[in-house]
Amino acid sequence: MLDEERSMQLMRVGAGTPMGELLRRYWHPIAAASEFADKNTKPIRLLGENLVMYKDLSGKYGVLDRHCPHRRADLSYGYVEEHGLRCNYHGWLFGEDGKCLAQPYEDVEDPSGKLRNTIHIKNYQVQEMAGLLWVYMGPSPAPLIPNYEPFLWKNCFAQISFTELPCNWFQCQENSIDPVHNEWMHQNWSIRLAGKTGPYAPTHMKVEFEEFRHGHVYRRVRSDTDETNELWTVGRVCLWPYALFTGGHFEWRVPIDDETTMSVAWFVSRVPKDKEPYVQNSVPHWWSPLKDEKTGRWLDSHIMNQDFVGWVGQGTFAQRSHEHLGKSDRGIAMIRQRYFADMERVARGEDPHAIVRDPKENERIDLPIIDKDSFIDGVTLEYLEKNRSFGTPKRMQHLAGQPPEVKRAYEDAMGFKMVDW
Ligand code: FES
Ligand SMILES: [Fe+2]
Repeated sequence: MLDEERSMQLMRVGAGTPMGELLRRYWHPIAAASEFADKNTKPIRLLGENLVMYKDLSGKYGVLDRHCPHRRADLSYGYVEEHGLRCNYHGWLFGEDGKCLAQPYEDVEDPSGKLRNTIHIKNYQVQEMAGLLWVYMGPSPAPLIPNYEPFLWKNCFAQISFTELPCNWFQCQENSIDPVHNEWMHQNWSIRLAGKTGPYAPTHMKVEFEEFRHGHVYRRVRSDTDETNELWTVGRVCLWPYALFTGGHFEWRVPIDDETTMSVAWFVSRVPKDKEPYVQNSVPHWWSPLKDEKTGRWLDSHIMNQDFVGWVGQGTFAQRSHEHLGKSDRGIAMIRQRYFADMERVARGEDPHAIVRDPKENERIDLPIIDKDSFIDGVTLEYLEKNRSFGTPKRMQHLAGQPPEVKRAYEDAMGFKMVDW
C-alpha cells in the first residue's frame, strides 16, 4: 500500500515533477512513420505538453511547440516547406532546431531580422526506429533509442497500433509485471465470455521477479508446467521504463498526460520459410477502438482489450492507499521501488535505469524471449497447416479492430488466410 502522496509521485508526468523529470530521460514512441505517408503534420501530446510533429519536404522530421510564438496559432495546421514548418496564420517559418527561419512581412520591413533573431520555439528531437517515431524531451546529450533485437529480425512483418486510454499510465505499466492476471483476466474470463463455465486454465503455482539491465523479468510455474519450461527458465519482460515485451510484441504505455495513456503496440510476425526472402518496406499502423459502440461498454474480445478493461476500471488514477498487495504483487512493489530510486538518481544528476549510451551495446540489445527459434528460424506453410507457431500467428488475438487492408497485407506476406477471432 502506498499513501496518496507517494502514489501521485509515481503518476504525475508534467515537467518539473520527479516522475516527469525521470521519464524525460527516455525516448518515447508516439507516432508511426507510415502516418506521414499522406500528411505532413500530426498534433501530439506527450508528458502533458502540446506539440506538433511534422515531416518537411526534404523528409526531415521535427517536433515543435503546438503554438506559434507570434500570436499562438495552432502549428498542426501549418504547412511544411523544403526545410521546416510554416505557420498558416502569418507565415512564420521554423526549423527543427527551433530557429525562426522567416517572418515574411517583418523581413520586408527589417531585412536584418531583429525580431526574428530573438525568436526560438520549443523543440524536441525525433528519430525513426522500427517504423516508430520516437521523441526525446530531456537534457542533452540524448541517450540512444534501445535497438532491441526484434527490430533487426529478418523476414518479418511488423505492424503498429494505437489505443488512447482514459487513465493514468502507471496502472497500465503495473500490469507489465503481473503474471497471475493472465490466468484470470485472459484465460478464465475468455472461457466465461464464450459462455462456458469451465474447465478453468492451469493455475499459477509459483512466481518470481528479477531485475535485469533493461527492466524486470517475471517467471512462473503453472500447474501444467515445471521449472524446465521457458515460462520459468526465460520468463517474460517488463521493459524499462514503461513497456511489456512478450517476444511477439511490445506494448508501450506512453503517458500523454496524467490522465491519458497512449497504448502503442508493435507486433512482429515471422513469415513462413516458403515466403523468404521477405522485406517489409513500410510498417503499417492502425487505431484500435476501445468501446463497443452498440453497448457503450469497453470491448473485451481481445487480450489487450481485456487488459484495458482492467486498467480503466481502476479509475483515472488507481487509489493505491486503498489496495491490499499480496505475494503475487511482489513485482509491482519492486518496480515502484525502482522508480522511486531512479527519481532520486535523476535528482542527483545521474542516469536512471536502462539508459543506453554505448553504440557498441546498441548494435543489438538481446532480450529474454520464449520460443525464440520460432521468430529466428520460422516454419513452413505445410507445418502451419497442422501446427501453431508462436512466431507466426494465424490470427490477431491481441487487439480489436485490425483494418481489412492491414489484414490483407499480413495475409499476402504470410501466404495464408487469417483465422477470424
Ligand atoms: S500566429 Fe503564427 S505566424 Fe502569426
Ligand atoms: Fe494482460
